[in-house]
Amino acid sequence: MSAPIHGNYKNYYSKRQSNVNGIDSRLDALGEDFCHSLRGKRILDIGCNEGKIAIEIAQRYSPEVIHGIDIDASLINKAVKQLKLIWSTTKPVEEEKGKRKRVDEPATVQPNYFPVSMPSIFGFVPFPESMKGFPRNVEFKHADVTRMEVEDGSYNVILALSLTKWIHLNGGDEQLLEFFNNAHKMLSDGGVLVLEAQLFKSYQNAVSDMRQLKETFDRLEIDPSQFEKILIKQIGFKKVRHCTGIRDRGVSIYTK
Ligand SMILES: C[S@@+](CC[C@H](N)C(=O)[O-])C[C@H]1O[C@@H](n2cnc3c(N)ncnc32)[C@H](O)[C@@H]1O
Repeated sequence: MSAPIHGNYKNYYSKRQSNVNGIDSRLDALGEDFCHSLRGKRILDIGCNEGKIAIEIAQRYSPEVIHGIDIDASLINKAVKQLKLIWSTTKPVEEEKGKRKRVDEPATVQPNYFPVSMPSIFGFVPFPESMKGFPRNVEFKHADVTRMEVEDGSYNVILALSLTKWIHLNGGDEQLLEFFNNAHKMLSDGGVLVLEAQLFKSYQNAVSDMRQLKETFDRLEIDPSQFEKILIKQIGFKKVRHCTGIRDRGVSIYTK
């Protein structure tokens, strides 16, 4: 198996133990008000891994759409499967004109209502054709954010959680700055970049495990403690708010 040089860890969430109060610790740190403000928004989750956060947001906070992208196709396949599994084990809430609807409000989501053995015996429950909202509001795609086409103003919210270290260590300062610029471009006016940047110390850990990243690491002139200054002064974000939860390393919300 090749080394996860993009942070493309398998079974990341079973190792990370990142839940607080029943939701991902980063969402917990962002707070209820922010999470509820995601309703009706267009969201891009860059480096979505197995789709845990994208699915959680799609199900609990009803965005218009959340697109999850990842550089590793096998993780995207897992994310798609995970979405089908969650849809198949979530409690259906009401019958409306003979159509089965499912919950999309945080207070009523019951994701483990049916045992996992049900879909493994009977197969996944198909997604309804005409329904809006979960699970139709989440889509996964295999893509490298440093190579994809960027459409101006296409998202209201961009999530970059535990991602910057991997872009930085693979593509150097140049690619990191290009990424920040592209994130800014893809946001609508007033849109937000939600950034959970890894600390420099954790770069050193990654490089000692994966020597192929050392050459780029040795050439870096920017370090994560400078990100805020760069995003505001150089890239053009207007303001930043820092959120710290119980178990996360700090998430920042940059507004365009
Ligand atoms: C450490 S994981 C974090 C997963 C998730 N964002 C979270 O915080 O729970 C980093 C993820 O970013 C993905 N990734 C790294 N570089 C990427 C790139 N250039 N484009 C898209 N995804 C990338 C990896 O494959 C991996 O799934």
